[in-house]
Amino acid sequence: MSQNLIQNTIDFVKEKLHGAEAGHDWFHIERVWKLSRKIAETENCNLEVVELSALLHDIADPKFHHGDETLALEISREFLESQQVSEDIITQVLFIIQNISFKNRGEVPENLPIELKIVQDADRLDAIGAIGIARTFNFGGFKNNLMYHPDMPPKLNMSKEEYKKNEGTTINHFYEKLLLLKDLMNTEKGKELAAERHRFMLKFLEEFDKEWNVD
Ligand code: ADP
Ligand code: NI
Repeated sequence: MSQNLIQNTIDFVKEKLHGAEAGHDWFHIERVWKLSRKIAETENCNLEVVELSALLHDIADPKFHHGDETLALEISREFLESQQVSEDIITQVLFIIQNISFKNRGEVPENLPIELKIVQDADRLDAIGAIGIARTFNFGGFKNNLMYHPDMPPKLNMSKEEYKKNEGTTINHFYEKLLLLKDLMNTEKGKELAAERHRFMLKFLEEFDKEWNVD
């Protein structure tokens, strides 16, 4: 695999994500990329597809681009073609970018490629644990959402449309998404890494509740 291609992709992504919300910036991509490589060591997979997908997966997140779900695919294709990447690899990478997201979980086809499972696990790992907590509060602040409201219970089993529109509290997001991720992990390595991060979130929620409810 050409080291040059990975380095060029890093440079491209860093520039594109300049000024992004702190939970979806270059450092999120870097963590997901590193986690993807770590998981990939334990699986039989095409590392080039894994690395390119990890690096490009949030290049144009629809929630920061007026819901546009095709922009990321267009930008990624144009970049990969400019790097003379083969059509076969481009197709695999675009499929992963299109299907990695939590909110698309109802629509993803069966028999997913292992490269998608790896990058999805890495992305989900970065959504939980200490980093996950920090990202979630940062996003909530960015949206000016409430941290918590005692009279707003979490909404479970939302449809994709409801999930995107939902203006709940940041604490609700733990119950609506983050605490569900542990059981959605695809790989053994992902499950192992998720367990500790999950425990840490539960502990955090317990403390938060205790401190909120001073008697
Ligand atoms: P995906 O990127 O898998 O589609 P999301 O867009 O739901 O998933 O979320 C990515 C990350 O952004 C979450 O893990 C969380 O940190 C943050 N986030 C998304 N939606 C919310 C929300 N309503 N409240 C707080 N944080 C959120
Ligand atoms: Ni991501």
